[in-house]
Amino acid sequence: MKIIAPAKLNLFLHITGRRDDGYHLLESLFVFTSFGDEITITSADTISLTINGPFASIIACEKIEKNLVYRAALLLQKKYAVKQGAHIILTKNIPVGAGLGGGSSDAAAVLKALNQFWQLQIDSETLATMGLSLGADIPACIVEKPALVFGIGDQVTPIAFPFSLSVLLINPNKSLSTPMVFQAYKETNTPFSASEHINRFEDLNTLFAFLKKTRNDLEAAAIQLQPDIQIILSTLKQNTRCELARMSGSGATCFALFRNHDEAQSAEKLLKKQFPHYWIFLSEIKNGHDSSRRGVHH
Ligand code: C5P
Repeated sequence: MKIIAPAKLNLFLHITGRRDDGYHLLESLFVFTSFGDEITITSADTISLTINGPFASIIACEKIEKNLVYRAALLLQKKYAVKQGAHIILTKNIPVGAGLGGGSSDAAAVLKALNQFWQLQIDSETLATMGLSLGADIPACIVEKPALVFGIGDQVTPIAFPFSLSVLLINPNKSLSTPMVFQAYKETNTPFSASEHINRFEDLNTLFAFLKKTRNDLEAAAIQLQPDIQIILSTLKQNTRCELARMSGSGATCFALFRNHDEAQSAEKLLKKQFPHYWIFLSEIKNGHDSSRRGVHH
């Protein structure tokens, strides 16, 4: 069985409060790209994990017990007393520690794939609750559709997103630690954002007008830790015809949205020339209806 774990983008990310346990309350628009990691599952007696692909080396040196894919598989196996194991091959195409939710998306994909592979028939809500215990972004990655996300990531409301958009992703090839970015944000004492009220985007103009009123509240903190982000964002805003340039999640990946694919391709060329050592990837935002790309394939 083969499944794609797409990259996640936060088209906006507002921090609206902080809980007593230190976790931040968010309001965010999550979308997914047609590009992602690949996960292949085959039968085995125990759970094992092989990692390959362009970003494998970064996570391959971590202890397997820390890997979200391994932890998700083990959690599901234990909780449902599954007798079988599984051999999981993770092809890591998404940069690591990059604000693209790679680890969360991998864990969500593995929970969904093993649910089918082991024929457990667990509903998505239960899977999302299990996922939340592993990471705040995982419930939204289980839903895997454009969605407004609230709370610490536990409240996920899918939103119609009938648009076809090209997205250019740029990462300076330097990872950022999510807890460190949240800590830096806390130290800036920025006032919390007020809630935005939106439940539907009538057309692309409405979407962009809305997005332009919003922000990523972690951007300034991430720029303090990784000033390259500022340079990427300025270049995208000044030298390309994008509708929006912003950082995703806790960074450092920045994205630019384009209505027109040719303009996205020109921007890709320009950025690759200007930043030859950065990771630069042109993809599309999935509109949530494209089940052929999202589906599980045997
Ligand atoms: O849940 P996840 O592993 O993605 O979060 C990593 C860290 O980021 C948390 O331990 C916490 O410090 C911070 N975080 C937060 N508020 C959130 C999500 C994450 O403060 N909503």
